[in-house]
Amino acid sequence: MKSIENIRKDFPILKNITYLDSASTSLTPKGVIDSISDYYNNYNANVGRGAYRTAIKAGQKLEETREKIANLINANNDEIIFTLNTTTAINIVANGFPYEKNDNIITSNMEHHSNFIPWLNLEKESKNNIDVKIAKANNDGFVEPSNIENLIDKNTKLVAITHVSNSIGAYQDIKEISKIIHEYEDIHLLVDVAQSIGHHKIDVKDIDADFIAAPGHKGLLGPTGTGFLYVKEEIANCLKPMNLGGGTITNIQNKEFNLDEVPYRFEGGTQNISGIIGLGTAIDYIENIGISNIEKHCQKLTKELYEGLSDIENIILYGNPENISSIVSFNIDGVNPYDVSKILDETANICVRSGFHCAIPSLNHVNAKEGNVRASLHIYNNSTDIEKLVDNVKDISKFLR
Ligand code: ALA
Repeated sequence: MKSIENIRKDFPILKNITYLDSASTSLTPKGVIDSISDYYNNYNANVGRGAYRTAIKAGQKLEETREKIANLINANNDEIIFTLNTTTAINIVANGFPYEKNDNIITSNMEHHSNFIPWLNLEKESKNNIDVKIAKANNDGFVEPSNIENLIDKNTKLVAITHVSNSIGAYQDIKEISKIIHEYEDIHLLVDVAQSIGHHKIDVKDIDADFIAAPGHKGLLGPTGTGFLYVKEEIANCLKPMNLGGGTITNIQNKEFNLDEVPYRFEGGTQNISGIIGLGTAIDYIENIGISNIEKHCQKLTKELYEGLSDIENIILYGNPENISSIVSFNIDGVNPYDVSKILDETANICVRSGFHCAIPSLNHVNAKEGNVRASLHIYNNSTDIEKLVDNVKDISKFLR
């Protein structure tokens, strides 16, 4: 593996800032930016439309990314649907799955709104014919698999759960949850891997997921506006596509049309071609470093950060340090989290996120009534970043007390 110092050189923006907000969006390596420019400079064309060579090349490059994603998560190419982000991926399942009257869906109170609001909306739109049940996490944000099991009944259709909480980094026991729900017939598992893909090995066969929803622009270091939905082959045909139009049918006569096969029926309209090509380059970059190396490095820094912050007198830390992944969130008692992040930026060029992180129920649950400050890590972070953040938080805590 390249040294961290050499990896940092692939991210020129790091010359100016200390970046600790990869859970929002990660930084983009130079090679990924170059591959996007290469597309625009040398073979800019739509895909699946033109017969000319640049169009064919663009189409091939797009399909190469599909194959790279499939290999990354141990799936087949046609189980990968390109999406704009994790949110659109989850909404395909929320809006397209054949739910029936009295079905219920289980989720948790640690979810990002993207894996929460679509289910609540489904319940509302069904006029309460579909019920959403919410499994409660413990004080560290961990959802005991037995809490999910206790909510299962004969009408449970789907369990939709995050792998790693975006607000406090709690790592959920997806394998155990999967084992429990697959003991029942006809319950499907959707895993939101927005904060785990790229940081941890995801193998859809190993976790036996029916759906996984993932971004390209976080752990995978790809461009914004990219993401994907994995759908297990056996169930893909029962999912209704909601975004029909160009590229989604094979034929139309009068008013009768035939849907194209999966995944194309879900990919209506022109895709984010340059972004998807960039995502392919990003996956090569990640695989070259090795996901297990990224995991090891980020877990080491997570520990350093948690321990460093815990020495500060009036700090409040969230989550169990033994069970958080690449995210450390905190508050300085009595100081608004927005002010902390503003001061960190303006006095020390440190970028962290503050507020509710689009996960209000999770922060209410851990009693962070005004939200919190979240530092999140990737392979380009080092111990100097951690020390800098800890020192600055210490200063803020001293001055604002
Ligand atoms: N979902 C992203 C975050 O957690 C934007 O910050």
